[in-house]
Amino acid sequence: MSATTEKLVEMRGVKLQFADKAILDGVDFTVLAQEVLVIMGLSGGGKSTLLSILMGLLKPNAGAVFFKDKDLTQLSRPELNEVRTHIGMVYQNAALISSMNVRENIGLPLRELSSKNDGEIESIIDQKLELVGLKDAGDKLPSELSGGMQKRVGLARALALEPELVLFDEPSAGLDPINSKLIDDLIIQLREKQKVTSIVVTHEMDSAFAVATRMAFLQDGKIILEGTPGEFRHSENPTVSKFLSSYSEHEQSKE
Ligand SMILES: Nc1ncnc2c1ncn2[C@@H]1O[C@H](COP(=O)(O)OP(=O)(O)O)[C@@H](O)[C@H]1O
Ligand SMILES: [Mg+2]
Repeated sequence: MSATTEKLVEMRGVKLQFADKAILDGVDFTVLAQEVLVIMGLSGGGKSTLLSILMGLLKPNAGAVFFKDKDLTQLSRPELNEVRTHIGMVYQNAALISSMNVRENIGLPLRELSSKNDGEIESIIDQKLELVGLKDAGDKLPSELSGGMQKRVGLARALALEPELVLFDEPSAGLDPINSKLIDDLIIQLREKQKVTSIVVTHEMDSAFAVATRMAFLQDGKIILEGTPGEFRHSENPTVSKFLSSYSEHEQSKE
């Protein structure tokens, strides 16, 4: 479980309001290189919003969002686009383009954001398809794929530019246990073999404990607890223990 001590991501005092409702109200956390930070919290608590801020898609009303030494909130559009080539996002609903086949979907970030030629792009697509176990699905349209396969294509697309950081929004939501485990294994493999850092939003506790090197709990717009999976299991924080308790028997059976 050794992570380096290189700081890859840091949020400091991040606040975000929609209309006059504070969604994030002073979020602080740090992610070191090669960690897998799992973020948990109740529905509507602002987890997807937090990932959008990390992608530079939403600008917070206050606070700093560092990727390495760059504060995303202070960057120009071109600078932000450059940073975003180092960050991959796997959306909750896969968010594939329905009129494009699998290969075209995966190739999209490469065509838009890299200077690679067609041959290079095709070979990267082959490699990513192989990684997510979809070698034979390249010519299919998203509508021809199961939810689990769509998610894997979304992951292949997120990995196309070899990002240092990958953000996962509810990667196993709606998946059967086999597909869910496949995604978990890919997250672990990315960290171990390719030194990729991940932030995973999930409320599937099996997944959370399978992939996390560290955990954080978002409530009322703040990170109320941050710690190792062991610390979370034994937390006496009432909200956190209640959140985990419906899964505890299950988890204990694995120990
Ligand atoms: N673009 C938006 N405009 C207005 N409200 C939004 C927008 N996106 C999200 N919200 C609201 O912000 C809150 C947090 O949403 P979200 O980040 O999706 O939560 P989570 O992912 O934790 O379920 C919710 O109340 C949601 O309705
Ligand atoms: Mg969400």
